[in-house]
Amino acid sequence: MSPAPEIRPDQSVELLKELHILTRDGKLNQDSRRKLKQVYHLFQFIEPLLRDVKAERGAVTLVDRGAGKSYLGFILYDLFFKALRDDSHVYGIETRAELVASSQALAARLGFGGMSFLNLTVAESIASGQLPARVDVVTALHACDTATDDAIRFALEKHAKYIVVVPCCQAEVAAVLRKNKARALADPLAEIWRHPLHTREFGSQITNVLRCLQLEAHGYQVSVTELVGWEHSMKNELIIAHYKNLPRRKPAERLNEILDRIGLQPLRERFFAPAS
Ligand SMILES: C[S@@+](CC[C@H](N)C(=O)[O-])C[C@H]1O[C@@H](n2cnc3c(N)ncnc32)[C@H](O)[C@@H]1O
Repeated sequence: MSPAPEIRPDQSVELLKELHILTRDGKLNQDSRRKLKQVYHLFQFIEPLLRDVKAERGAVTLVDRGAGKSYLGFILYDLFFKALRDDSHVYGIETRAELVASSQALAARLGFGGMSFLNLTVAESIASGQLPARVDVVTALHACDTATDDAIRFALEKHAKYIVVVPCCQAEVAAVLRKNKARALADPLAEIWRHPLHTREFGSQITNVLRCLQLEAHGYQVSVTELVGWEHSMKNELIIAHYKNLPRRKPAERLNEILDRIGLQPLRERFFAPAS
């Protein structure tokens, strides 16, 4: 019997306790009820993508980057992958070895055999034989600073059909804007990021704009929405990219023009676009 109406009959109660969504005695409190709602909300966006890949390819390989405690990977596995009888697999990639070890132990305890956790840098993960050549879906939830960019780079190299990122704080672009500010101020538009607080905020926003253009420049269709109800975080921008082999020239040109115009040329390699 499920412990609360919000919990689906086939959900792992043990997992929900491990994730502190259920209390030790299997109850939901006010706080965890909200957390569960948020989880379902995010799942609502990802589930149709998983179903699409499953229907097209027969199995789904998902890589969650900057996995942390692999909260997202475990939830996706429990709600979707667990019931599949095929070669589908969820990989969590995380740079902190102790989190990789604890996720491995939890997956073993829960009997989630279709999950693996790897401690690899972005470059290693692109080349690693521990990951399959084909990856269908790449996710990155609040992967901090440039870890979201690592996730995008990995996904592009792997030709993922879907890329789902909810970026976290981003400092790299703001640092370059700050460094080149004096020169940039010849352009009145640089007023947008003249004050230090604005430098940080504009830096964060333009980062996501550049990420979207980068994805479009690789043939993806991109949608940007808000993760409504994600109140515990200020970072609730959800970017979903779907590979459609769309024309790339215009977004690539715009990406390069923006980098030039606002003094972000040093980041051309970060937001690489294919030559048009
Ligand atoms: C803010 S946590 C988010 C964890 C998890 N996705 C979540 O939403 O609960 C970001 C995680 O990314 C990891 N990380 C940072 N840079 C990374 C990279 N380049 N590749 C993989 N993981 C990275 C950090 O160690 C940290 O655990």
